[in-house]
Amino acid sequence: MRIALFDSGLGGLTVLGHARRALPDEEFLFFADRDHVPYGTKTVDEVRGFVRDAFRFLVEEERAEAVVIACNTATSVSADEMRRRYDIPIIGMEPAVKKALDADRTRRVLVTGTPITVRGEKLHRLIDTYDANHLVDLLPLPRLVEFAENQEFVSPHVEEYLRTALAPFDFAQYSAIVLGCTHFNFFKDTMRSLMPETMTFADGNDGTVEELARRAGLTTQPEGERTAHCTFFRSGRRVVGAQELARIESFISRAERMELIN
Ligand code: DGL
Repeated sequence: MRIALFDSGLGGLTVLGHARRALPDEEFLFFADRDHVPYGTKTVDEVRGFVRDAFRFLVEEERAEAVVIACNTATSVSADEMRRRYDIPIIGMEPAVKKALDADRTRRVLVTGTPITVRGEKLHRLIDTYDANHLVDLLPLPRLVEFAENQEFVSPHVEEYLRTALAPFDFAQYSAIVLGCTHFNFFKDTMRSLMPETMTFADGNDGTVEELARRAGLTTQPEGERTAHCTFFRSGRRVVGAQELARIESFISRAERMELIN
């Protein structure tokens, strides 16, 4: 099956790795809308327009048979519209609020995301449904998207930004931080160094791949050495340059290293 993964930028690569290992016999297309990244600080209408264009390209021109919106922001504002428009499996991503609350019913949970996701009705509905004890706090971290796209993963600027953003929270009261933006997984090492061991990360990456397999009628394999083939697109253009492909590979290997941090 021809499966597209779509993100505003390279954050979706943190989902692609799982998908290629769990479904090694499928064919993947990865679309990073780098002409328009970041989405999270733009208007909802602008993002809806970008997502419409990306889907038109992936489904109508590239004949994708399923699409994973590997972007919490685009899911928040456009997944319902795309499901009405296209009769193929469309899998979205939502911050892993339920997963984090289910794992610990007493301590607080810090849910991070982009400004659009954090303000969005979809997330507020999710919190109303699962957070009966009012344990969730919200924190937008838009600059992490910029840092990631500039390939600045570990630096004094990143550390200072995160240290300042996380300072208001007394982590002794928290069980987990929810990574509600696929770009944020690239920063788990710095985040880990700023959080106590008692706090864990929660993201929806594995769950999204399971949901893809279920909705597309595929069977996941135990993750091993084999990975599915993938063609990369920057907005509507196929990536062919050796330098840009090498850059993508280095994001993929960083994403793999970050998977090992719990
Ligand atoms: N990676 C995206 C997400 O999961 C969005 C980042 C952005 O473009 O602001 O929300």
